[in-house]
Amino acid sequence: MKNIIEISHLVKKFGDFTAVNDISFNIEAGQIYGILGPNGAGKTTTISLVLGIERPTAGKILVDGMDNMHNKAKVKQMIGFMTQETIVDSDLTAHENLEIAARLYHLEPEEARQAIRIALEEAELTEFKDKPAGTFSGGMKRRLYLVKSMIHAPKVLILDEPTTGLDVHNRVQMWEHIRQLNAKGVTIILTTQYLEEAEELCNKISVIDHGRIIATGTPSELKRMVSKGQVLEIITTREASGKIAKVLQSAFSLNATVKEDKIEAYMESNPLITFSEVLHRLMKEKLPLISISMHLPTMDDVFIKLTGSSLRDSVGENKSDRERVMFRR
Ligand SMILES: Nc1ncnc2c1ncn2[C@@H]1O[C@H](COP(=O)(O)OP(=O)(O)OP(=O)(O)O)[C@@H](O)[C@H]1O
Ligand SMILES: [Mg+2]
Repeated sequence: MKNIIEISHLVKKFGDFTAVNDISFNIEAGQIYGILGPNGAGKTTTISLVLGIERPTAGKILVDGMDNMHNKAKVKQMIGFMTQETIVDSDLTAHENLEIAARLYHLEPEEARQAIRIALEEAELTEFKDKPAGTFSGGMKRRLYLVKSMIHAPKVLILDEPTTGLDVHNRVQMWEHIRQLNAKGVTIILTTQYLEEAEELCNKISVIDHGRIIATGTPSELKRMVSKGQVLEIITTREASGKIAKVLQSAFSLNATVKEDKIEAYMESNPLITFSEVLHRLMKEKLPLISISMHLPTMDDVFIKLTGSSLRDSVGENKSDRERVMFRR
């Protein structure tokens, strides 16, 4: 497969501070490429450089063979972009939000009409199209924002932390939407702080910290770099915890320990299964999940192994909350 994006020796300094420190990687057409790292790692800065929003201090980015700083108009048409914060105009309806996006990308009127109709369908917002976006739930806004970013049918879609702050239902829905776009041939680049999200979606991942790439590989290659197994933690009701432990045992041969409403299982005892398989199975069984998360000793181990410092230390105190997939009931 040909490289759709080539990043070589990228550096970005803000004054004396180096936010991106000699980063190089290539993204092949058709991939879902993950940039995984904690707060402040340099994920958003890297993306701003790819988009040409920021000018690199050094290094070069080719988008479809073109230097991105010298071909801004072409690059803009080729790439869709969704920022970390959801940007939709609350006063405007879903339809109007999309109309403005279509105009921004110079779609012809007929082309725009079609694109908007399809976008509303894909976002499952057709019946809400004349309602102001301000009345939408977080998940609806995020879906509107995603299709708005794709209105010009770009070849590449860049998503900056697409699911941070979403509850589990909307998160799974967003993953599905991303996979569908990729199946239609869109190359996806996403940043995330969630190991399980990178693992669920990405064919290839670069782990970054303090502006440097500390490891690049497929999810299984990265996992092979660490020795310790991962721990799955589930919070449920006291009544359901025993039942969940039984499902983990019978369906996945996972040995779980139950303590009141909390279940812990060592993924190591069955290294072939993934977080998402367990999540989907428990959701299918309609078991009452309050939260489900994977401890990340593996990621910490990757960090400790390569940088000498712990992921948790570099992330700060909110990480344990952000890591958790919360179930809104
Ligand atoms: N315009 C700027 N001026 C000065 N420093 C900046 C600027 N933009 C980013 N930084 C710094 O660069 C570092 C990397 O920031 P960046 O936003 O790229 O991180 P991130 O990986 O996206 O983090 P998060 O997960 O919190 O979004 C941070 O320490 C940040 O404070
Ligand atoms: Mg960021």
